[in-house]
Amino acid sequence: MALIQRSIRPNSSDPVRCHRPASSSPRVIYPFSSPRANGAKDLSFFTYHLLRTERPQLRIRCTHAMSSLAYKEMDRFSAPARLMIVSDLDHTMVDHHDPENTSLLRFNAMWESIYRHNSLLVFSTGRSPTLYKQLRKEKPLLTPDITIMSVGTEITYGDSMVPDEGWEVVLNKAWNRNIALEEAGKFPQLKLQPETEQRPHKVSFYVDKGHAQEVLKSLPGIFKSRGLDVKIIYSGGIDLDILPQGAGKGEALSYLLKKFKEAGKLPLNTLACGDSGNDAELFSISDVYGVMVSNAQEELLQWHAENAKGNSKIIHATERCAAVTLYIAYERWRQAAAENYESFIQSLKTICHPSGTIIHPSGVEQPLHEWIDTLRPYYGDKQGKKFLVWVDRAFTSKIGSDTLLVKFDKWELTDEGRNGCVTTFVLNSKPDSPGSFSLVHIHQTWLEGFAASTDDAWIF
Ligand code: GLC
Ligand code: MG
Repeated sequence: MALIQRSIRPNSSDPVRCHRPASSSPRVIYPFSSPRANGAKDLSFFTYHLLRTERPQLRIRCTHAMSSLAYKEMDRFSAPARLMIVSDLDHTMVDHHDPENTSLLRFNAMWESIYRHNSLLVFSTGRSPTLYKQLRKEKPLLTPDITIMSVGTEITYGDSMVPDEGWEVVLNKAWNRNIALEEAGKFPQLKLQPETEQRPHKVSFYVDKGHAQEVLKSLPGIFKSRGLDVKIIYSGGIDLDILPQGAGKGEALSYLLKKFKEAGKLPLNTLACGDSGNDAELFSISDVYGVMVSNAQEELLQWHAENAKGNSKIIHATERCAAVTLYIAYERWRQAAAENYESFIQSLKTICHPSGTIIHPSGVEQPLHEWIDTLRPYYGDKQGKKFLVWVDRAFTSKIGSDTLLVKFDKWELTDEGRNGCVTTFVLNSKPDSPGSFSLVHIHQTWLEGFAASTDDAWIF
């Protein structure tokens, strides 16, 4: 995923703020900048459609069968899910600037090994089913438990992508796509998006930023005068979506949460991740944690500044955490996936202060530079083996005018199991280079129950 920097530790005493606009007139979510870069059906799916179209007398029975299948697909566990991640795809889960898909593959490995068995993965995308399936062919995406497509107007479950027909019924209320198309079509500034992106509850156009303002100003009144209650969302400085008022990524998530709650299976934690205008709603839902990725578009940041600034449940991943970057390099180095074996050693020496020290979780203390020299034999020792390194619950605090403390849990997963340490970095700012820091101290202590079986099985 483009950059989920750290996980957020839920705090039940956090004030929960809900920023849902009260007005019933068309809601406009709009932006102001940033250029835009830009699955499989199984037998049950085909059987369903065959029966639906060719044997109408079986339709009711079949629809019931599918809703129970849909329910089964969304409900893999007997207890509430430990975590439900609801993530946008383009520029959030998928970093289109990373042809090697490094972050995505890391996320996938972590999800499969640690979360899949008790947590739910939900993709929430603006893409239609056609473009979503195209992305699945291009990128190594996991199969989610639930897929929300077409800006929250289509919800499907499981590998077979069983549609949620209840959601279609909800959206059909007070919606008339012909009027939406007719009125918006009168604006020469609006260019219709391709046919695949026109969906039963979504009419989509392109409009450049220069013309977006005037269109966004006029459209709501026009729809209101025609008795149509719609939501207009402008995303990525180019896309304009017209949806039923009750649709959108946030509404779709609220609908799912309600369903889970009714079944007594409300996930213990829900985390939403996104980067652009159509994701803003995801961050408006009570009790949902949020990560706006570091590459978030200005429209989302502006929305956050105006609507959710004080909400501690939402964080903006402002920069790649240095510890995360360091450990990604370390993991690659042990797997011999780094291009240059010596450059990792040299960059560690550059980062670490010559008189700095490290305390290994066993309690052994060593000068940092001496310790770095002992690392060389470990280059490539994990090649072809399971070796995953990640950082969790990182937080940074300033403990002096020029000293930072970074504390996090550092985890390693190997074929032998999972080990973890609470790790503390103490960094001093470099007097000759303001804004740069040098690592003066590393201190690690085992996380309870996750100590390595032998001291030398844990290096860093
Ligand atoms: C995706 C969809 C497009 C939509 C945009 C913003 O790119 O393909 O139709 O307008 O997301 O929601
Ligand atoms: Mg996106």
